[in-house]
Amino acid sequence: MSVVVEAKDLRQVYKIRRGLFREPAQLQAVGGVSFAIEAGKTLAVVGESGCGKSTLARMVSLIEKPTAGSLMLDGTDAVNTPSADKHRLRQAVQLVFQNPYGSLNPRKKVSAVLEAPLEINTDLSKAERSERAKAMLAQVGLRPEYANRYPHMFSGGQRQRIAIARALMLNPKLLVADEPVSALDVSIQAQVLNLLADLQQEFKLAYLFISHDLAVVKHIAHEVLVMYLGHVMEQGPKESLYARPCHPYTQALLASTPGVGERTVQRIVLKGELPSPLNPPSGCVFSSRCPYAQERCKAERPLARPVGDRIAACHFAEDFLSEGFPQLATADNVSLPG
Ligand SMILES: Nc1ncnc2c1ncn2[C@@H]1O[C@H](COP(=O)(O)OP(=O)(O)O)[C@@H](O)[C@H]1O
Ligand SMILES: [Mg+2]
Repeated sequence: MSVVVEAKDLRQVYKIRRGLFREPAQLQAVGGVSFAIEAGKTLAVVGESGCGKSTLARMVSLIEKPTAGSLMLDGTDAVNTPSADKHRLRQAVQLVFQNPYGSLNPRKKVSAVLEAPLEINTDLSKAERSERAKAMLAQVGLRPEYANRYPHMFSGGQRQRIAIARALMLNPKLLVADEPVSALDVSIQAQVLNLLADLQQEFKLAYLFISHDLAVVKHIAHEVLVMYLGHVMEQGPKESLYARPCHPYTQALLASTPGVGERTVQRIVLKGELPSPLNPPSGCVFSSRCPYAQERCKAERPLARPVGDRIAACHFAEDFLSEGFPQLATADNVSLPG
């Protein structure tokens, strides 16, 4: 299969102004993320709010230039492209947001929303554009005559279908979906996820699918990347990551998601608050909340490295993988199954 997007060590550092007389602070929103997605495959990125998911989405969809790292999109260097080639690349990647209210212009009919990309980027006639828009509406499970309606006349789920239709008008290779179903009712979420899965099959799309919820990505993901404070904690094939997570943060996320944690997962209750990315803990960024943290974890940051069939950034990842439970002193907020 062909690789559609390949990111190596992508980083984003924001400068935060702190008044006239102080140096700006540095906030590392994404601290080195690498992945590749093939045509027809989905990489899910999960983690709590503020861990850098949307920042990653903006870099991969060419809205924001990374501070460092490389991004190959459809075989082209997307960070250092001359602006003549940028145009083609921008068509290859499209973004779907959480809130289709905000991303659909309320004064434009659906037909205008869907035909706009064609008007700008193709020389199709008005009749051809209209035909394409109606065909795409059918593709996303809406009636072609809905083209004459305005966005406010639709339900949340229908509006997200329209946003997806708009994203697909120019035949992209990669769809970046940032919490695309998080604003929808649970019953509607499943329908939109099924639609995304069908469209992926049909058009061989690569998906970068972002969610804070491991239950949502369980069915759509092929690979999962778990982030915490801008760093990759664990990354690998969905089946093995859900069955035997080898990072305590993945275990905690799974344990807090009803219905997806397997019996092998410890019931971890995370202690303390999420630290500020302006002042991350020394050593392992998860150490301040990890029930297994040892002295070493506070002193030495574990590098993301191959562990079994995946990548993990935990000094004790091998122990978690082989034993399920490492032979470490644990805090009293961990209860083992049994
Ligand atoms: N434009 C920006 N300027 C400064 N800080 C930002 C900016 N965008 C995001 N951040 C910070 O970067 C971190 C990651 O944010 P974000 O990528 O939105 O996380 P998520 O989508 O996982 O909730 C947060 O601490 C956020 O406050
Ligand atoms: Mg976000």
